[in-house]
Amino acid sequence: MGKKLVIGALGQVGTELIQTMRLRYGVDEVIASDIRLRAEPLDGPFLVLNALNEEALRATVKEMGISEVYLMAAMLSATAEQMPDKAWDLNMKSLFIVLDMAKDGLIEKVFWPSTIAVFGPNSEKRNSPQHGTLEPTTVYGISKLAGEQWCAYYHRRYGVDVRSLRYPGLIGYKSMPGGGTTDYAVEIFHKAIEEAKYTCFLSEQRTLPMMYMDDAIKATIDIMEAPAEQIKLRTSYNISSLSFSPEELAAEISKVVAGFQIDYAPDFRDSIAASWPESIDDSSAKTDWAWKSDFNLQKLVRTMIDGVCSLKNA
Ligand code: SER
Repeated sequence: MGKKLVIGALGQVGTELIQTMRLRYGVDEVIASDIRLRAEPLDGPFLVLNALNEEALRATVKEMGISEVYLMAAMLSATAEQMPDKAWDLNMKSLFIVLDMAKDGLIEKVFWPSTIAVFGPNSEKRNSPQHGTLEPTTVYGISKLAGEQWCAYYHRRYGVDVRSLRYPGLIGYKSMPGGGTTDYAVEIFHKAIEEAKYTCFLSEQRTLPMMYMDDAIKATIDIMEAPAEQIKLRTSYNISSLSFSPEELAAEISKVVAGFQIDYAPDFRDSIAASWPESIDDSSAKTDWAWKSDFNLQKLVRTMIDGVCSLKNA
């Protein structure tokens, strides 16, 4: 077994994925990379790498003996609407670079995240099925849906071992999200603790599928460690945990943060959210590789508040 490379390691998911993988596989077995340098050094190997620089990526993989790549670099839904061509370019080209390295036998396994944004306004609103209508209306969703099909194509045609999850909105305190429609569900905790008030850019009853970061990291590691024959879907698996609206999240936060106030100023992100399902059906992931979520809303809120407070007091 070679080493593991995480591309986009300073992003919301990458930050936490690196920490968990290093505990599990050993610090020097997991190489972190990002397009930018971090202010404080990460504990362990770190490289500045542009996910679009094919030459540099191929050289790194060869020199460092990498066998698995986790491609976490992407432009998320809200930012992608501001620069559709750049988003398409980044989200698709980086995927081809990594899939081609696997096709050419340079690496053995690939993880590539997809998203609930592959669903669209014609998808089933509740318990949206794995194989239901997928007609995304955002450039982010279009790029991820196309990417899912390319993953399946590379698996079918070239035997590439690529595995993927459709992440819901992800919530954690160790890193901040950037450019997503579900980012409010992280920001709200920081504002609740700093100011006891928050202005939400989604409308109060805009319910979306959400997940605590630990669950998303566990799913990522579980799908990558599962025997290949259990991974029956080579597009991307629905995974589900919680669904709530800003109003419901605020009500739960109010139980812990005395006097917490929320108001609403929905912007273009509310229309993006309106095109996504409220909940998704993850029975394929449960059946194929035993996926299970460990967090409910109450546990998520307590963990986030304790976590954000510990950051402020550090
Ligand atoms: N969190 C993502 C976004 O809001 C959805 O996958 O763009």
